[in-house]
Amino acid sequence: MSGGTPVVPRESTPERPSPPTPLPTVGAGGHGGDGAPILEVRGVSKRFGGLQALNDVDLTVRPGQVTGVIGPNGSGKSTLFNVITGVARADRGSIRFRGTEIARLSPDRINRLGLGRTFQLTRLFGQLSAFENLVVVARGNRASAGTRADELLDLVGLRHVRDEYAANLSYGQQKLVEFVRLMMSDPSLVLLDEPFAGVNPTMERRLLEQMDGWLAAGKTVLVTDHEMKIMMEICSEIVVLDHGETIARGTPEEVRADPRVMEAYFGR
Ligand SMILES: Nc1ncnc2c1ncn2[C@@H]1O[C@H](COP(=O)(O)OP(=O)(O)OP(=O)(O)O)[C@@H](O)[C@H]1O
Ligand SMILES: [Mg+2]
Repeated sequence: MSGGTPVVPRESTPERPSPPTPLPTVGAGGHGGDGAPILEVRGVSKRFGGLQALNDVDLTVRPGQVTGVIGPNGSGKSTLFNVITGVARADRGSIRFRGTEIARLSPDRINRLGLGRTFQLTRLFGQLSAFENLVVVARGNRASAGTRADELLDLVGLRHVRDEYAANLSYGQQKLVEFVRLMMSDPSLVLLDEPFAGVNPTMERRLLEQMDGWLAAGKTVLVTDHEMKIMMEICSEIVVLDHGETIARGTPEEVRADPRVMEAYFGR
């Protein structure tokens, strides 16, 4: 483990009085975003039968920043994340993570290189406790994994449900456990597939505070979500997919002002 516990700006997370309130400073300006890309996706295509789910997609993720992928339902966002993490295999194209070609590697190999992810639908082990769900993914020493798991549960205010079956946790708590579970393998890049979907404002704030801490600890985030307000606030750069093609990219302001983006969402 490097860097230890991420810095979280506010330990207590009061209910948001009434939306909108300022979000934590996730992403704002980023840290060291001018460095060489941590992830470079070039010309990636993926077909499912007759459906071209991804067509010649390029994506560049800079270290220390939050990069966003948006697009209508079915535009290929999860497929792109699956291809990057080895869960699905690209038909064509190159994916370089910290300079290493990973397009043909297994999900486990990719994870061991420092790339972690969450899934659109949480994938906790329902019949394991929150604590066990963290420890089970740890590598190496079990005692130190247990200590780390308790630290992480403390950090997100979930110590009181440490021994609950994951299946009995609320949806937001499950998301939070999956979120901190990522940190058990100390990834340098995390991919988050719809982390904010269906999450109440209190949990949303805790997730954002976690992300803030990750960024402060030098980690990088690639995220997709339909919560446009949050995406616009946290992302330094956004790529827009439609029918598996990249139709726009740029800062949130540039993307928001791009007529192709409006058309993709509302035009047909
Ligand atoms: N394993 C699969 N087999 C066949 N088709 C698939 C498979 N996975 C995804 N697809 C199809 O590929 C297209 C892109 O799906 P994907 O899940 O990547 O979209 P998405 O942008 O993540 O959508 P959403 O916003 O609803 O999560 C969809 O038409 C989907 O039905
Ligand atoms: Mg998806």
